[in-house]
Amino acid sequence: MAANDRRSNRQLLLTSRPTGRITPGNFTLAEAPIPRLADGQALLKTLYLSIDPAMRSWMDDADGYMPRIRLGEVVRSAGIAQVAESCHPSFRSGELVYGLTGWQEFSVIDNGNESSFGKLPPDISMPVRTLTNLAGATGMAAYFGMCAIARPQPGETLVVTAAAGAVGSLAGQIGKIFGCRVTGVTSSDEKCRWLMEELGFDAAVNYKSGNWRRALEQTCPGGIDILFENAGGEASDFILTRLNSRARIVLCGLIASYHGERQARVFLAPVLMKRLRIEGFLVADYAARFDEALRRLARWTLDGRLQHRETIVDGLEQAPAALNLLFDGGNVGKLLVKTDTTADVAPVATLVEQ
Ligand SMILES: NC(=O)c1ccc[n+]([C@@H]2O[C@H](COP(=O)([O-])OP(=O)(O)OC[C@H]3O[C@@H](n4cnc5c(N)ncnc54)[C@H](OP(=O)(O)O)[C@@H]3O)[C@@H](O)[C@H]2O)c1
Repeated sequence: MAANDRRSNRQLLLTSRPTGRITPGNFTLAEAPIPRLADGQALLKTLYLSIDPAMRSWMDDADGYMPRIRLGEVVRSAGIAQVAESCHPSFRSGELVYGLTGWQEFSVIDNGNESSFGKLPPDISMPVRTLTNLAGATGMAAYFGMCAIARPQPGETLVVTAAAGAVGSLAGQIGKIFGCRVTGVTSSDEKCRWLMEELGFDAAVNYKSGNWRRALEQTCPGGIDILFENAGGEASDFILTRLNSRARIVLCGLIASYHGERQARVFLAPVLMKRLRIEGFLVADYAARFDEALRRLARWTLDGRLQHRETIVDGLEQAPAALNLLFDGGNVGKLLVKTDTTADVAPVATLVEQ
């Protein structure tokens, strides 16, 4: 199949470390031979790359929860791929997998890296782009941040930052499913309209508008019970002062600090006085429950209770520009790079009755 259609594997290598925003000069587009398979290996053809804010921090000269990407290495990235050829006992040609494909058109799975890939359940029928949204870190962060950490109760007030992004748009809707009153915080009136008119948020506030503090207060007259924190920006500083006693802060991400120019702040006195609970998490903590989460997200999606949207950028070579979009608020919903023009017709299965 497609592996034979191309003679080479285009890859984006990290060849210098960014300071602040990434630039095209930080990467080199290389062409490597498509790997020949040995026993125990399968060849994966990347369909969509998941573009995630954390990737920017993997490019820094420091190890975090993942080791830094070394200079000269293919940029580490999650994605959805299809098994193009297989000499591996557990992977069959045509199967879909989610995992660390990297910014490249082909990758190899073997016993050295197979723990970073998971097979997608063949009984879940969704376009591949939707699966890339729901089955990866995005869907998992929204699901476990809300269902395992926030544990929302009907009638509670939830505020979500970066609410029109991938995780935020799902987290806010999960709050609605659990009966919360939900306010989304985002950077434009158009995104606010999307949150309220299409996703069913009760309110949305544009933190770039002149009167956003007052607007935010008005949307939460009884204070805030849950903050789903994706941003850690100026709006978050204000939201933290409006939390109710025993409020929970789900610390999912702090994108405002990923370029190093801002440090997120937490005001410890209110944590004490209001007995707040702050819990950070990484989706990997919940790996044993990914299947449960995907099935529930898929069920809500098919029932029309969970809307989703993908912003798609075409072509592997556009991946660096795509990553910058996240920091400019240039995406609505999940940001993906489509690396294979046939991706949308790749086979996927049927759903999901258990
Ligand atoms: N804990 C985990 O395991 C886990 C897993 C996945 C993601 N995350 C985190 O979840 C957060 C959201 O990730 P995502 O993939 O869903 O990205 P996303 O929300 O789709 O995209 C990032 C959004 O952040 C907002 N933003 C960018 N710079 C900002 C700033 N300086 N201040 C305030 N907002 C800013 C922009 O939205 P606006 O237009 O609204 O400003 C942008 O669209 C990130 O912090 C990410 O690291 C954590």
